[in-house]
Amino acid sequence: MNMAKKFFIETFGCQMNELDSEKIAGSLRHGGMEPTREPAGADVIILNTCSVREKAVQKAYARLGEIKHHKKQRDEVVVGVVGCMAQLEGEKILARAPFVSVLAGPQKSHAIPGLVAEATATRRAAIDLRMDEDPEPLETSHVLRENPWRAGITISEGCNRKCSFCVVPFTRGKERNRESANILREVHALVDQGYVEVVLLGQTVNSYRDPFRREITFARLLEQLAKIDGLRRIRFTSPHPNDFSDELVEVIDACPTVCNHVHMPVQSGSTRVLRAMRRGYSRRKYLDTVNRIKAARRPIAISADIIVGFPGEEEEDFQDTISLIDEVQYDSVFSFKYSPRPSTPALRLPGEVPDEEKGRRLSFLQERQKLIQYNINASYMGRVEEILVDERARARFSLCGRTSNNKIVNFDGPESLLGRFAMVEITGFSANSLKGRLKG
Ligand code: 5AD
Repeated sequence: MNMAKKFFIETFGCQMNELDSEKIAGSLRHGGMEPTREPAGADVIILNTCSVREKAVQKAYARLGEIKHHKKQRDEVVVGVVGCMAQLEGEKILARAPFVSVLAGPQKSHAIPGLVAEATATRRAAIDLRMDEDPEPLETSHVLRENPWRAGITISEGCNRKCSFCVVPFTRGKERNRESANILREVHALVDQGYVEVVLLGQTVNSYRDPFRREITFARLLEQLAKIDGLRRIRFTSPHPNDFSDELVEVIDACPTVCNHVHMPVQSGSTRVLRAMRRGYSRRKYLDTVNRIKAARRPIAISADIIVGFPGEEEEDFQDTISLIDEVQYDSVFSFKYSPRPSTPALRLPGEVPDEEKGRRLSFLQERQKLIQYNINASYMGRVEEILVDERARARFSLCGRTSNNKIVNFDGPESLLGRFAMVEITGFSANSLKGRLKG
């Protein structure tokens, strides 16, 4: 009989959190435990949390409320809250959910097995919320990856920017870059295992510089990765507009394995609001960067994040955001209502926008963007696209995949195509995805 203890991890938030969960899973498995897909029956339940907006924090607390009954049924279950929300809320979590017995911030994957063991042995909370003064190692030897053909890769951790709305510098700390030799070694090893796509991750991924060989910028790193035989697609997220060098545009242009999609958060189209957000660029400067990207010989799809209802945002500022999305013609936009976050400078700004007005602006923007996407997607009709088949589609189609420029394509085909490349003719579209027919 297999007596190994079982762990269950639930992930909230961004791609970086997903990768952190894979690192935690790798560490726990290395420590002799086995993963399970259900919280029921798990000996260890870990919530890897997000704190970027208040809603994410509430969601984690709500989930803890549900998890409480697993603990009631089996008192020996260890419940852990880790990641950004744990870092931010700290021991407040224990006050609200006293059954939680592991608390750790992000980047603590290697420490989790020890904390779980400590909580089990002492029957008291094991806590590791130290930051900065003791930076966590960026190298992790144990990663239990979910997907056998696409892998997230940490290239940097933390963020040196001080956007006035953002809590991330307080949860993930200062930027630290990984040595490029280690990144290259990891990607080589993944390709040897059959991986065809990597997603380079960093809070401001394009500010990357090798910590010892300063001449190796993000663009040079991409260029080196693009030379790896067998690696078919390289993605990265998220770049900061100010670090989007000409050199980087040139590398995307010159290396077909670097996907022709750039997710470049703008946050607002109003220079006045951008200044209050401390983004470090004006509307004009952002648009210049967009135009440099659009001037590449390969068409490059662009997407962004936008916040509406930032303190002091007037109707006129909001209209600047609308005219910006009209001008850029984004392939997709993730938009959010501004959410006040603890410790952030924006908390002290006057001109709070009522929630109802935030909601109005959000739906107006989303409707407008939907139309833009609908028109862009219409232009794909009849085209033949190469997609990496990476998911079973939900609704009527059996499969789904993505083009290099990140369009989602639903189509019918055999499951044996999962993780492979296929040519698909586009036969239909909506604002959010394309429909296709397998060629040949
Ligand atoms: N309120 C709303 N959205 C936020 N984001 C970051 N902080 C906040 C906040 N306080 C958004 C930004 C960022 C994305 C990951 O989340 O658009 O790019």
